Amino acid sequence: MSPALRQKFVVGNWKMYTNAAEARQLAKAVVDGMGAEERVSVTLCPPFPYLALVGEILKGSGVALGAQNVYPEKEGAFTGEVSPTMLLDLGCKYVILGHSERRHKLGESDAFINQKVRVALADGLDVILCVGETLEQRKNNQTEALLDQQLTLGLAGVSADTLTRLSLAYEPVWAIGNLEHHATPQQAQDAHAVIRRRFGQIFGEKSAQELAIEYGGSVKPDNAAALFCRDGVDGALIGGASLHADQFLAIVRAAISTSLTQENSAKTAA
Ligand code: PGA
Repeated sequence: MSPALRQKFVVGNWKMYTNAAEARQLAKAVVDGMGAEERVSVTLCPPFPYLALVGEILKGSGVALGAQNVYPEKEGAFTGEVSPTMLLDLGCKYVILGHSERRHKLGESDAFINQKVRVALADGLDVILCVGETLEQRKNNQTEALLDQQLTLGLAGVSADTLTRLSLAYEPVWAIGNLEHHATPQQAQDAHAVIRRRFGQIFGEKSAQELAIEYGGSVKPDNAAALFCRDGVDGALIGGASLHADQFLAIVRAAISTSLTQENSAKTAA
């Protein structure tokens, strides 16, 4: 599959926001707004307590359910944790792992994230693995080395036959929830190319070409199209804007229209 033709993937990461009524309303508005739209793949990741109620609303729609975290054990005495099986039980297809807030605010290491990635994939969840550098690392020209490290350690031991259920999200830490600094389309494209190249070194060129890489960090309706039309930017992981159905749907529409343009230019070139 050519990278330009990979279906765009738009994911809403609600983080620790919403209450039950807001979660219900937001999910319903997204489902209604999507209608029978199938040209883009859309997933909502509400907080754990609302997975079941959002799952009910998404049932029968084209919108998938995802979780924001998982614990890498099937079951056991792990107070406060949630297993992959429990997420699957609730209808989750996806799980976000390695998010920078978990790395930097909760101290998750590459090794722990790797354990989660391997167990989640082996148990049948689709994984969205987040990687990305801090502002200091970018300023010190360490972006490439950092991405290399997060990919090498985070993907160690991942079985090749689970790769079709893995996507990556490039989320520069300095661009998350930050209206002043967000990555330019060129910065996103360059980082995605670094990630794809490293992925290819680990798993081979074919898998690298099939890999979807989302960009995350202050994606809004007014910058989404410029990001989506860049080579190798296959979608977006959206925080703040995913809490507003109109903004989220506008980003989905930007994904659809850039996909159509890319398909048309691929046809013309063929
Ligand atoms: P943001 O969050 O869109 O609010 O920057 C993105 C993320 O953290 O996944």
